[in-house]
This record gives sequence, structure tokens and C-alpha cells, in this order.
Amino acid sequence: MRQELVYEILDSLPTGVMLADSTGGVAFANSAALEYMGIDRERLSEINIDGLVQHDSRKKETMLRTRGDERLTVRLSKKDLGGGGSLIILTDITEIHQLQQEILKMDKLATVGELTSGIAHEIRNPLAGIKITAQALQEEIPDNDHRAAYISKIIIEIDRLNKLLLNFFDFAKPRELYVRSCDVKKVIEDTVSMVRDTARGNHIRIMEFYPTSAIRIKADPDMIRQVLMNILINAVQSMTSGGTMEVHLLELGSSVRIEVRDTGEGIPENIRSRIFDPFFTTKPKGIGLGLSISYRIVKMHSGSITVESSAQGTTFIVTLPRDIGR
Ligand SMILES: Nc1ncnc2c1ncn2[C@@H]1O[C@H](COP(=O)(O)OP(=O)(O)OP(=O)(O)O)[C@@H](O)[C@H]1O
Ligand SMILES: [Mg+2]
Repeated sequence: MRQELVYEILDSLPTGVMLADSTGGVAFANSAALEYMGIDRERLSEINIDGLVQHDSRKKETMLRTRGDERLTVRLSKKDLGGGGSLIILTDITEIHQLQQEILKMDKLATVGELTSGIAHEIRNPLAGIKITAQALQEEIPDNDHRAAYISKIIIEIDRLNKLLLNFFDFAKPRELYVRSCDVKKVIEDTVSMVRDTARGNHIRIMEFYPTSAIRIKADPDMIRQVLMNILINAVQSMTSGGTMEVHLLELGSSVRIEVRDTGEGIPENIRSRIFDPFFTTKPKGIGLGLSISYRIVKMHSGSITVESSAQGTTFIVTLPRDIGR
């Protein structure tokens, strides 16, 4: 077979192929390999595979950035050839890697859910006992006795704890979805109006960008409201000294895309992969459940939730399936 034909075949492969000599210098790389490594063929001589593949491991996963600045997870495998040379195969496993991460996230959510529901249950019963006792005391103490205020305070705090526990139950065992056709614009507008006062108080301008016609989605509107509320509150909390919050709604074929942009402090890159984890919070009074609950709700709707962030601000993007059956 002609050598050019061999190169042509190698270049058309969706897998990266590289040949290295005994010193690790790269003698050949096909188009996919160059693309994965984000370099031009002319700069191939600068690459040494020892920097990519560790000596002791034959298989390795690595993050690479392509020329288009796309991030890829690539599996490298090395096969020693006769004469000290080696063959390196690079496989793009970005999608597999993302799926693995998602499964891991769902798993973690389920475990934490079980744990919290167990603990919450154990706390609720004695708490109910304490409340009944406090109420009995309240009845015995005359209203004009200054100690009556203490008892009221105890009861108020018990109620607060009970509410917190209910939140945990919600998290542990999310109720069944009641999916129906609903107007997503209305759901968004309703939710935005709930944070309007808080936003104004914090010198935050809200700008809304919606299509003129109604767009229907197949969803449980209460649940979607909860998701948006979490995102909107986070946005407001990120702009401690004022800013602008933009809410966009876009139609995208069979789905809708909701974007919430803030001009807040942004999310540092080193914590970005953890913000959807249950109980991950950077706020002194945060619980860290807002985004993990939102993540689960969106997944239950076969949608997606992603984030883009820089020092200039953050954008949360939620996609949900449109209701096309009308
Ligand atoms: N718009 C945003 N700007 C900057 N950081 C954000 C934004 N949204 C989320 N984060 C980061 O993600 C973390 C997790 O968010 P999440 O909503 O899950 O929890 P929380 O807001 O800390 O607490 P909770 O929502 O339970 O009160 C936050 O603590 C914050 O560090
Ligand atoms: Mg939050």
C-alpha cells in the first residue's frame, strides 16, 4: 500500500494515533492526535510523550484543551513497539467521563438523601415531645407571667426546626412529579416577581428577555419554580454591592433554554465542579442544598443544568423539554 494512502487513512480516523521513538520524541501524529493536543503539525517536535504518559502506567486519562479551546478528557494508551519506539492511542472519552460524573452525582445525592431522612426522622419525634411539654407548661403559666415569653420562644424555635426538617424530607424523598403542560414564561415571571423586592433592596437591576408568544413545556411548574428560585436567590446573593440580573428565555427546537446571568463575584474555577454537591456551600449561613435539589429536579424532567462563570459574573443555563404535542 502506498505510504500516502496509509497516512490518509490514519488522518481520517476519529482516534488519535502517535508514534514515538525511544527518547519519547514524536515522529508521527495523525490529525485527531494534533486536534486533541491543540497543536500544529509544525510544533510536533516540541512534544515528548513522557510528559503525557507516565512510565509506570500504561493507561491514563488526561484533560486536554483543543485549539478551539474545547476541554476534552482523553484516554491515553501506550504500546511498546520493537526497537524502543512506542505507539500512543488517544481516545476522546469526554462524553463517557461526563456521564460517569453525572451518575456519581446522582449516587451521592441518593446516599445523602437516605442519611438525612434517617436523622431527620430521629429528631422529629423527640421534638414533637418537647413541643407538647412546652405547650402544657404554657397553659399552666398565666399570660402576665414574664416566664410565658420564654415558653413562646421555645415553641417558635421548635417550629423553625420542624420547618428545616421538612426541607430535609423534601430533599431526601422528593415528591412525585405532577407533569403537565404549562406556560414556562409565566412560571419564570412569577418566580422573578418573588425576588424583585429583595433585588431592589440590594441595588440589583432585573432585566427580562422573553419571546412574545407563550411557550409551553411539559413539567411540574411548582418544581420548576423551586429550581428558578434557587438560581435567582444565588444570583442576588452573589451581587453583594449591586449589579444586573438578566433572565432570558429562548426556544431551541424541541427544548427551551432559560438563562440567568448575574454580574456577581463569579464562581472560582477550583470549586465549580462541586457547587451541585449536597451541602457544598461557601456562605456562612448557607446549607448548600439549593443547587443539588435543583439539579435533581431538572434531571427528573430530562433536562439539563449547567454553569458558566468568570470574574465578571455567572450564568446558569437550564434546558427543559418543550411540550410539542399541542
Ligand atoms: N450565581 C452565583 N454566583 C456565585 N457563586 C454561586 C452562584 N450560585 C451558586 N454559587 C456557589 O455555589 C454554592 C452552592 O450553591 P447552593 O445554592 O447549592 O447552596 P447555598 O446557596 O450556599 O446554600 P442554600 O442554597 O442551601 O441556602 C454557593 O455557596 C456558592 O459558592
Ligand atoms: Mg443557594
